Amino acid sequence: MKSVALFGAGFIGTVHGRNLAADPRVSLSYIYDADASRAASLAAELGAETADSVEQVLGDPAVDAVVIASSTNTHADLLTASARAGKAIFCEKPIDLSLEVAERAVAAVERTDAPVMVDFCRRFDPPYAALRKAVADGEIGEVELMQMSSRGPSLPPISYLEVSGGQMFDQLIHFFDLMCWITGLEPVSVTVTGSALVDPQVAEVGDVDTSVAVLKLGNGAICQIDAQRRIGYGYDERIEVNGSTSMVEAGRQRTGWVNHYEAGSVRTDGMHPGWFERSEHTFKASIGAFIDAIEAGRAPSPNLADGLRAQRIANAATTSLREGRTVAID
Ligand SMILES: NC(=O)c1ccc[n+]([C@@H]2O[C@H](COP(=O)([O-])OP(=O)(O)OC[C@H]3O[C@@H](n4cnc5c(N)ncnc54)[C@H](O)[C@@H]3O)[C@@H](O)[C@H]2O)c1
Repeated sequence: MKSVALFGAGFIGTVHGRNLAADPRVSLSYIYDADASRAASLAAELGAETADSVEQVLGDPAVDAVVIASSTNTHADLLTASARAGKAIFCEKPIDLSLEVAERAVAAVERTDAPVMVDFCRRFDPPYAALRKAVADGEIGEVELMQMSSRGPSLPPISYLEVSGGQMFDQLIHFFDLMCWITGLEPVSVTVTGSALVDPQVAEVGDVDTSVAVLKLGNGAICQIDAQRRIGYGYDERIEVNGSTSMVEAGRQRTGWVNHYEAGSVRTDGMHPGWFERSEHTFKASIGAFIDAIEAGRAPSPNLADGLRAQRIANAATTSLREGRTVAID
């Protein structure tokens, strides 16, 4: 039984807290949130204790692991302090909005033995894992072209966009990670174009809501990712990988598989309403994989290096979007 504490009782902290509380291998010990009432209400729901401070959690030798699900600007400090306290760490993405801060935190963590997993939960979506296996097994030959779509149902509040780091960082970071993970290839350059079509305020806060990123991979293959913040038909995400001999595709997912035959038309079940409904199962699988790893004494994956790589790509993509040029990726 692993004693796990949770930092952050907001939206995703609640998801992780409920998944941890339902895992028979876990005792959810403390919940700490800067907003004490949030921590108290989640702790009451899940039968955990409310902590008064980060120090209380990290100073308790009975705590084996921590889950960092608080606001992005807290991750780097919590990572460093938790690693120094000898805890295993499950950290929400991104490590920080600033690559420099993220790199400093990773360097500090690397001076400890703390095992760290970064929550690129989409890797735990079975269709995406199947794509990766097909590519690794040589089923499609050499990867030549990859196509991904990430299309959200509605524009998040402008106040959220202002602090999100922008569409490349906030929406596409998962797909930059999936691109590398599925193909086993690294990008060498990125070119992005984007527009603010949904609301002029998106441009006023320096962001876009509709974009296409084109990445060149190490073997010369091209990956194209299209992203929209507002589509009229639900949440739409899909990936195809075209190789020298054939193609694999994780198609768009509908909520059901029934065709309704009516006079003059055939209606099928529609898309998930949002990204969370489409991806909810991956959060349980992701945190479950973290518990698997620490129980077995294995290094968890994805790790901090994966987190930094996705951030470097997102940074280069943001520069390309702002400066209207192709940006090389080291
Ligand atoms: N992996 C994914 O797909 C995914 C999905 C959603 C969110 N996230 C990430 O999870 C993080 C949280 O997002 P959210 O949507 O739950 O936000 P949220 O605003 O709902 O929750 C954040 C919580 O952190 C708390 N907090 C702030 N400072 C704190 C501190 N110093 N210590 C402890 N708690 C503190 C806030 O009071 C709040 O309750 C973000 O970094 C976000 O990028 C990742």
